[in-house]
Amino acid sequence: MDRTQVAIIGAGPSGLLLSQLLYLNGIDNIVLERQSREHVAGRIRAGVLEQGTVELLLKAKLGERMLSERLVHDGVSLAFAGRSVRVDLKALTGSSVSVYGQTEVTKDLMDARTAAGAKLMFEAAEVAVADFDSAHPKVRYRHNGRTHELTCDFIAGCDGYHGVCRQSIPQGALQTFERTYPFGWLGILADVPPASHELIYSNHARGFALCSMRSMTRSRYYVQCGLDEKLEAWSDARFWDELRVRLPDEIAAAVITGPSIEKSIAPLRSFVVEPLRFGQLFLVGDAAHIVPPTGAKGLNLAAADVRVLYQALVEYYRTSRTDLLERYSQMALRRAWQAVRFSWWFTSIMHKFSDDPFNHRLQLAELDYLSGSTAALTSLAENYVGLPFEV
Ligand code: APR
Ligand code: PHB
Repeated sequence: MDRTQVAIIGAGPSGLLLSQLLYLNGIDNIVLERQSREHVAGRIRAGVLEQGTVELLLKAKLGERMLSERLVHDGVSLAFAGRSVRVDLKALTGSSVSVYGQTEVTKDLMDARTAAGAKLMFEAAEVAVADFDSAHPKVRYRHNGRTHELTCDFIAGCDGYHGVCRQSIPQGALQTFERTYPFGWLGILADVPPASHELIYSNHARGFALCSMRSMTRSRYYVQCGLDEKLEAWSDARFWDELRVRLPDEIAAAVITGPSIEKSIAPLRSFVVEPLRFGQLFLVGDAAHIVPPTGAKGLNLAAADVRVLYQALVEYYRTSRTDLLERYSQMALRRAWQAVRFSWWFTSIMHKFSDDPFNHRLQLAELDYLSGSTAALTSLAENYVGLPFEV
């Protein structure tokens, strides 16, 4: 029977970041991940970091490559009705965002954990969590054909939306809030220079489009697509044509095309469960909440949860104080609902929900108002760069 202080289920950005921060504070932990290291490292996800997330990664001693390779963006643009409006994040809030792929963050985390000799168990199958309503929770799992049992003080459920931790909580004890959207995002990655040095979110009568990047030589583009659309129906040529149609002429003309190196369709969902703590089990990141990617909040919200939970665990092991542990759920949910609201609102004004022209006129009117109101631009900017933290 193995023993650790904190058992972490899932080696996504939440689990790895929590593991690193606990390790740096002398708290023993084991990470159990169902997939292989290569599978986890190979995932393509978004890449806009709030300053708060950058600071937490620096605290986790993960700054070197991020600081040298990230792109710092002081603004973001909204395109609609054939024109585009720049939201000067820096001037409106004093803060910027950093473009640095989640794949890179995960790679840095894995390298740091491995360098520190962390107990990272990949391909841990049939993970089961138990007794988290007692002082000695247990985790069972199979690895290399053998069954293992682990006792611990706490379990951190960092196992994402489809993970085992949330599913192990008695149904009646959970309240779930969900909204699905009648469309998806078709995204491609291509080794071409980006159309612009900052992100462009575009509202168009044919649907949403986004111009993003991973570097000044690797671009990431998305177009809104139907949920029933098949990837095979989207050749690169069709993608580039549709993207350009949905952008103002001068931006469309700046799009440099090339072969896609990754292409995928992702559904959009808003999802929150309450509460986020059940005895000694804590839900973190995508296991607790999902936001549509429009607001670029997924990774930042996961990092915000880790920020509260690691401080609470450090305080507990240093002083036996439990007040931050008791406030984890309320604090993480407060921030989650703010991010869910912003991501829903931004999705609502930038996407095509129906063929009803009245809806589109309403969106254009809101974007026109927003582009002329410092108050409205500031509200968007402060949510986009990340709201202040409670702790
Ligand atoms: N046992 C062990 N590991 C599991 C299990 C299980 N039963 N179920 C899922 N996992 C692993 C997954 O394989 C994955 O590697 O848990 C990890 C969860 O990672 P993520 O889904 O990336 O969730 P999180 O770490 O919270 O990161 C949230 O990821 O999806 C993006 O937009 C999201 O940026 C946000 C970030
Ligand atoms: C991305 O670069 O993949 C990206 C950027 C901003 C978003 C979503 C995705 O809002």
